[in-house]
Amino acid sequence: MEQFLKCCLIRLHKIQFLVIVLGVISIGGGVECRKARKYERLEYSAINCRSHSASITEFGGVGDGKTLNTKAFQAAVNKLSQYGSDGGAQLYVPAGKWLTGSFNLTSHFTLYLHKDAVLLASQDIASWPVIEPLASYGHGRDTAGGRYISLIFGTNLTDVVVTGENATIDGQGSLWWQQFHKKKLKFTRPYLIEIMHSDNIQISNLTFLNSPSWNIHPVYSSNIIMQGITILAPVTSPNTDGINPDSCTNTRIEDSYIVSGDDCIAVKSGWDEYGIRYGMPTKQLVIRRLTCISPYSAAIALGSEMSGGIQDVRAEDIVAINTESGVRIKTAIGRGGFVKDIYVKGMTLHTMKWVFWMTGNYGSHADNKYDKNALPVIQGINYQDVVANNVSMAGRLEGISGDPFTGVCLSNVTITMAKKAKKYPWTCNDIEGTSSGVVPMPCGLLPDQGPEKVGRMCDFPAETLAIDKVVLQRCAYTMSLH
Ligand SMILES: *[C@@H]1O[C@H](CO)[C@@H](O)[C@H](O)[C@H]1NC(C)=O
Ligand SMILES: *[C@@H]1O[C@H](CO)[C@@H](O)[C@H](O)[C@H]1NC(C)=O
Ligand SMILES: *[C@@H]1O[C@H](CO)[C@@H](O)[C@H](O)[C@H]1NC(C)=O
Ligand SMILES: *[C@@H]1O[C@H](CO)[C@@H](O)[C@H](O)[C@H]1NC(C)=O
Ligand SMILES: *[C@@H]1O[C@H](CO)[C@@H](O)[C@H](O)[C@H]1NC(C)=O
Ligand SMILES: *[C@@H]1O[C@H](CO)[C@@H](O)[C@H](O)[C@H]1NC(C)=O
Repeated sequence: MEQFLKCCLIRLHKIQFLVIVLGVISIGGGVECRKARKYERLEYSAINCRSHSASITEFGGVGDGKTLNTKAFQAAVNKLSQYGSDGGAQLYVPAGKWLTGSFNLTSHFTLYLHKDAVLLASQDIASWPVIEPLASYGHGRDTAGGRYISLIFGTNLTDVVVTGENATIDGQGSLWWQQFHKKKLKFTRPYLIEIMHSDNIQISNLTFLNSPSWNIHPVYSSNIIMQGITILAPVTSPNTDGINPDSCTNTRIEDSYIVSGDDCIAVKSGWDEYGIRYGMPTKQLVIRRLTCISPYSAAIALGSEMSGGIQDVRAEDIVAINTESGVRIKTAIGRGGFVKDIYVKGMTLHTMKWVFWMTGNYGSHADNKYDKNALPVIQGINYQDVVANNVSMAGRLEGISGDPFTGVCLSNVTITMAKKAKKYPWTCNDIEGTSSGVVPMPCGLLPDQGPEKVGRMCDFPAETLAIDKVVLQRCAYTMSLH
């Protein structure tokens, strides 16, 4: 009877408890329910729910932390890809440690990780095929040649969800960092997730640990939601950027917590002559409710690879602690492209080297073939409602001689300097703009417009982006576990 009860309770979980009790009393022992099966109920939000579902264990997956599951993942994705035109499919990864090399995603597909599931990236270099450099970069980022494919990779897809209840994707990056420092790598290090040439993407409620390099890299893609992402890497680890939207349109990043050895979010669009030729900007990007710790880099960097252009970026409610700078612009002669219509509203910053930092001499070129006449256009950079304390320098705003950064607007900014702050809080050259209600008083290139202008001077668009209008659905599944 006990077995029967448990079984039916699980089977009837949708119905009220009272009904179940009544059912047990009135139906008695005659119901067919011979074998106790285990069920798992899932419910979560996604851009699309799926008609089909399977567990990685059905494809020979073993979550013991030792068995290599690359083939199981790829077999599962290949099999489930056949449901693309029939309501799509979910691949469920139960609790366990799932060692794997790189595998590819498919369209109309959800990868769902149980809260106690850990994807462990293989440390065997043979698990990482090498692919071509990105066309908009011309080169790998670490070395001139190809690049190791990302742990989770997708290209030319539509409607893809990677989610969990804060499950972990562990890049086990320390070996890669050592090899990188010793200059022993032949190819550029892999990322944890890269999605290329794709549309309608959701990556949510996951923790990313110790990536070999960048964590999440959507590139040449559109309509992307990233929500509830935790990214953790040692603050000294090389190039462990958090999220890098690169030549992407209509992207929303929210409710994320990132501790990393490089920029928490780095907005990009290709490198020098390769990025100019490819010509694909990142635009319509909103970042909100981000918390960042990155002592050697920025909370949000725009560039340095921005040769396809960056336009219409909105950052709201940004918290940074022990971080080098807030929303930073990095560019150089040879980059070409543009960074324009940038709107920042609401930053709370503790222990910063620079609150504001713009650099026109970032350097770091793909090769020596870059065009010395390709000047970046930096225009319309708005910051308002900023509170910062324990700051070494308020701002370092350095444009390019003969190519000033224009339309810089600072309003309602209160900066409390550190005890050991630099003598002059601001340095400015080759910039043009205005300010109001900024303490300490900014440099002469940002003349104060008076206190009555506070809250009415710097722009922030009133209308929301199309990606903000996407409403997630509640998806429910009852998984039968074998
Ligand atoms: C992420 O998790 C939070 C908290 O559990 C939940 O409110 C939210 O709907 C989830 N979002 C997605 C996109 O999975
Ligand atoms: C994954 O995609 C890449 C790039 O398209 C391709 O080179 C590789 O062969 C694919 N891997 C598998 C297992 O299909
Ligand atoms: C993927 O899409 C890009 C851009 O549309 C295209 O150039 C490329 O040929 C496509 N690749 C595949 C494998 O279909
Ligand atoms: C997710 O897990 C990480 C550690 O793995 C933890 O620091 C973080 O607080 C968790 N986030 C949520 C929303 O539970
Ligand atoms: C100035 O910024 C603070 C938060 O930093 C905000 O509470 C306040 O409303 C802003 N003032 C105006 C006039 O917008
Ligand atoms: C202020 O910043 C310095 C580093 O510049 C740091 O050592 C110190 O702990 C910070 N103080 C507080 C109160 O956060």
